[in-house]
Amino acid sequence: MTNIWRNQNNDGEFEIYQILCLKDSYTYLISSHKVAISIDPGEGSAIQKELQEHELKLEAILLTHHHKAHVEDAVYLKAKTDATIIGPKHEELEYIDQEVMDEDECLISSFTVRVMGLPGHTLDHLGYYFPDCKALFSGDALYLGGCGKMLEGDEVQYFESLQKIKKLPPDTLIFGGHNITEETVRTLEEEMKLNPFLKASSPEEFLRIRNEVDAE
Ligand SMILES: [Fe+2]
Repeated sequence: MTNIWRNQNNDGEFEIYQILCLKDSYTYLISSHKVAISIDPGEGSAIQKELQEHELKLEAILLTHHHKAHVEDAVYLKAKTDATIIGPKHEELEYIDQEVMDEDECLISSFTVRVMGLPGHTLDHLGYYFPDCKALFSGDALYLGGCGKMLEGDEVQYFESLQKIKKLPPDTLIFGGHNITEETVRTLEEEMKLNPFLKASSPEEFLRIRNEVDAE
């Protein structure tokens, strides 16, 4: 199943494809002028299908963190398309072409991409913010109604990562790596009213909510 958003910016029309893969994960394509970027290629064949159907050239593959569901088919897709793999420094991601970190900015085709370090779920976790498209690809650092488990970082790191996201423009669309709601997309402003983790006002409160949700 694929959902497609179309919108305009100064550079013309762009599209965001949200592709359901591996049963409960989302993988994304963002494209403009027939050039696409893949974010978290969990299932290469599903992405290939969209690329072919919409006649898109894949320019880059962005990875949010090293977990399998997010990086599984990066090498496969690169072999098919010769796209550049961009992601965090991590021992399991030795195949990356370009390592990026917090506050880096990349120009990929017509897209500006701002890299946000979002540790908490994992230490290597990055988010990719597209300022001209008002879109954040947040991986497992934040998804609608929730966020990923705190597997490597601590509550101070995770809380700070969420505060960073909260400073983005309120109309930023949040595209996360999984979905636990019936909805497919929300703005940051809407999410701040609904997501208990974004509502937490301290690392301690974040941890309390995390523990409660994990115990459910
Ligand atoms: Fe993850």
